[in-house]
Amino acid sequence: GWEMTLLILSIAPVLAVTGMIETAAMTGFANKDKQELKHAGKIATEAVENIRTIVSLTREKAFEQMYEEMLQTQHRNTSKKAQIIGSCYAFSHAFIYFAYAAGFRFGAYLIQAGRMTPEGMFIVFTAIAYGAMAIGETFVLAPEYSKAKSGAVHLFALLEKKPNIDSRSQEGKKPDTCEGNLEFREVSFFYPCRPDVFILRGLSLSIERGKTVAFVGSSGCGKSTSVQLLQRFYDPVQGQVLFDGVDAKELNVQWLRSQIAIVSQEPVLFNCSIAENIAYGDNSRVVPLDEIKEAANAANIHSFIESLPESLES
Ligand SMILES: Nc1ncnc2c1ncn2[C@@H]1O[C@H](COP(=O)(O)OP(=O)(O)OP(=O)(O)O)[C@@H](O)[C@H]1O
Ligand SMILES: [Mg+2]
Repeated sequence: GWEMTLLILSIAPVLAVTGMIETAAMTGFANKDKQELKHAGKIATEAVENIRTIVSLTREKAFEQMYEEMLQTQHRNTSKKAQIIGSCYAFSHAFIYFAYAAGFRFGAYLIQAGRMTPEGMFIVFTAIAYGAMAIGETFVLAPEYSKAKSGAVHLFALLEKKPNIDSRSQEGKKPDTCEGNLEFREVSFFYPCRPDVFILRGLSLSIERGKTVAFVGSSGCGKSTSVQLLQRFYDPVQGQVLFDGVDAKELNVQWLRSQIAIVSQEPVLFNCSIAENIAYGDNSRVVPLDEIKEAANAANIHSFIESLPESLES
């Protein structure tokens, strides 16, 4: 089928270019769409998450308008794009069909003249024509390939990153008993993302077993940060946090955290039964029902739970 091949190859560059145009129009615009939809989505998510605050400030209409405005830009862009994409599509498809027409006409002539079988004509035609279009599309997608590759590098780096404090680590001491004597020894600390702002400067404090201690101070003075150091979410930049005289860094992270009960500023209930919500405090074993009830008693919520239709299973 060399004659057929020659004809198609002569129009192949055009086919390749149409493939390029079409793919470029689709992918280029899809990327831009994503950006704008992301902004609108962010407004919607924020509004839904903070609905009580928005209602209390009677800002519903304002958020609705903000969301609408975001969609307006997208709508305007889409209308504009529709014409460009449409034209590209029309141009590229028209060309493809013209090429088909020319190919088939020439193929018919070759078959009539007995220089090709119908089967051979179809094989040559499809292989070369589709091949040319695929080459065009590949050219456009080639930059995406390298982008994907560099994206994957970041992703794998993230997956392989070893956290400074690994909660799954089996290493570290697991003392049999925990007295509960705590000590901050000359602790200085800044958050890794703000190394220029020291939150704690040489905090020294010891809290003996059984004592009740309150940290009092203005908002942002570092109370929650100190508690996070006890939970070992971070390590001090200088100084030590000690449990029964042992540096927190030497203790097994899971063990350490399982010794701590915490009611945070914003307590969280997971979407499961009350019993399960209480039991997740110790996920190293299956917590028996008796212990769950005991914990509920100790927290003064047992009678409230009993008053619910399904009590602990509510
Ligand atoms: N993850 C973080 N990254 C960077 N800075 C942070 C981070 N968390 C808190 N901070 C900053 O550290 C300082 C201390 O915050 P912290 O939450 O410990 O204050 P707090 O005393 O508990 O305040 P509040 O009384 O409002 O609960 C604040 O200036 C805060 O902005
Ligand atoms: Mg706080």
